[in-house]
Amino acid sequence: MIPQSFIQDLLARVDIVDVVGKYVQLKKGGANYMGLCPFHNEKSPSFTVSPTKQFYHCFGCGAHGTSIGFLMEYSGMSFVDAVKDLALNNGMIVPEEDKLLPAQRAEVQAKSLALSEVMTKASEHYRHHLRGASTAIAYLKKRGLTGEIAAKFALGYAPDGWDGLRAVFPDYAAPELVEAGLLIDRSDEEGSNRKRYDRFRDRIMFPIRNTKGQVIGFGGRILDQGEPKYLNSPETPLFQKGYELYGLFEARQAIRDAGYVLVTEGYMDVVALAQMGFPQAVATLGTACTPTHVQKLLRQTDHVIFSFDGDSAGRRAARRALDACLPHANDDKIIKFLFLPTEHDPDSYIRELGTEAFEQQVQDAMPLSQFFLKEVAADNDLGTAEGRAKAQFDAKPLLQQMPPSGLRLQMVRSLANMTQTTPAEIEALFELAQPVARARVAPPKSKRSAPVGLERQIMRILVAHPVLASMMNASVLADAALLAPDGAEMLTQLATIAYGMGEQANFAALAENLRATGSDYDALIAEIAEQTETELDVVRLELTGAIRQIRKQVLNAEMQRLAATGLREEADIIRYREVMQLQDQLRKQAEAEAAVRQV
Ligand code: UTP
Ligand code: MN
Repeated sequence: MIPQSFIQDLLARVDIVDVVGKYVQLKKGGANYMGLCPFHNEKSPSFTVSPTKQFYHCFGCGAHGTSIGFLMEYSGMSFVDAVKDLALNNGMIVPEEDKLLPAQRAEVQAKSLALSEVMTKASEHYRHHLRGASTAIAYLKKRGLTGEIAAKFALGYAPDGWDGLRAVFPDYAAPELVEAGLLIDRSDEEGSNRKRYDRFRDRIMFPIRNTKGQVIGFGGRILDQGEPKYLNSPETPLFQKGYELYGLFEARQAIRDAGYVLVTEGYMDVVALAQMGFPQAVATLGTACTPTHVQKLLRQTDHVIFSFDGDSAGRRAARRALDACLPHANDDKIIKFLFLPTEHDPDSYIRELGTEAFEQQVQDAMPLSQFFLKEVAADNDLGTAEGRAKAQFDAKPLLQQMPPSGLRLQMVRSLANMTQTTPAEIEALFELAQPVARARVAPPKSKRSAPVGLERQIMRILVAHPVLASMMNASVLADAALLAPDGAEMLTQLATIAYGMGEQANFAALAENLRATGSDYDALIAEIAEQTETELDVVRLELTGAIRQIRKQVLNAEMQRLAATGLREEADIIRYREVMQLQDQLRKQAEAEAAVRQV
């Protein structure tokens, strides 16, 4: 469970114009930005992004949401992944425990700083030791690496020995060393005589850096034979394999210059390619390519080429990459797949056959649409009705992952062609997400009765401007409950949530906060999303007016009830006078405010 306070901080840090702008071309129009809606097909822009509300809204199909919601809809990410992705790109760490206090949050940040320092020191230590390590140098030379390229990637050597890191960390018992993954701690295990020791021993060290250049992990290769061939840092608060790509920091400029990024599977591939004239290469870290990887790559460039070995493992990896790419495939992105001969990886290929041959492989890489067709056709006999139906069956989950686009249409056409059907039949059969329809899906009916009239007006104001919740004191809520006992529950809930968010509450943060309460507020949020912004002062007056209206109605009702008693009791007469005075006060307040408004 991610604490709401973190979501609030995150939304305050992120700018939705940047987030959406990565995927949709936006133009400034008045206070908002406009663009072609990515969720339905349109020729003229009806998609707006409001920097003040930090919300997007499409007047064409009704799609709307915050930065988080946009990533979820657009990329098919889960809520948690969307939050993590935004946090990652804004240098924030998602706290795992609910309700982290500010002091705890500062602690989390201090911790990651401490881990980062430890990693930097270790990296320098390993690099320093490479200089004197003749076996390690000999190994790198044997692999064809120059000193220059070793320096570029800050390669190092972890000397043999159980506690080499003691030289740089005299406090070998410091908890950071284990948390950073540099040491292994066995002190909990019975019978082990060695409690703490260096994880990396007698290995060539590949530091893994984040896009800021900070060392966040290591890959350590054994010299020559042995198991495991590569030892990697464990997942730590700094390092998550599903997010990181080896070499991205080193390759960033080259990716821009080349206009594309080359994605390989290994550390050595990246380093060798860089040396041989392809500095635009990166590698996944011994894991399958994830949608997050793809997204990270597409942030650097709109042209991604994957390189895989020609063997069956390589094909499987390519298929995983295809899956990871589909949610991000779009008309302005080019994604290709390069299959090397079975016995080769990029490192061995370029060393054996040379740069030009490799360049040719890059040129000949297979576009995503073609690889998709090939995958779907594989193992199916397209000469039979059953085979064609099976091919469609295989294609369905793939196409369903894609956002609507010209590319998807092209792929649907090719598939229709291949399976002797029409594109319309495929679209219908696959129930391909037509975003218009998706955005308009009615929210599930709430069991609670929705407030109407004045209360609804108040709720609308509170959703748009949650800071005003402080005006909703207990007596106002009690009045509302008297007027409409059914709807008051929602109003009270909303006022409580909004009030709890404090002074920096805003629409986007509240919208995310309400996500947790279910769909009750969907309609209201949609309504606010398409409203033009109003000055807070005007809204404040509107809210005061609505509160007064409720008060007035409650007083009127009481007046009628008292009159109906015939005012025979002393208490009734006293109350009747009181109510009349209260009504008078209300009227005077209203007049005073009307006068202010005239000015
Ligand atoms: P490979 O086995 O293809 O190794 O693993 P490689 O990259 O070609 O390495 P060299 O050329 O033999 O030195 C590909 C990637 O899988 C991960 C590493 O990231 C490696 O680069 N891997 C492999 C591990 O993490 N651990 C292993 O034991 C093996
Ligand atoms: Mn290799």
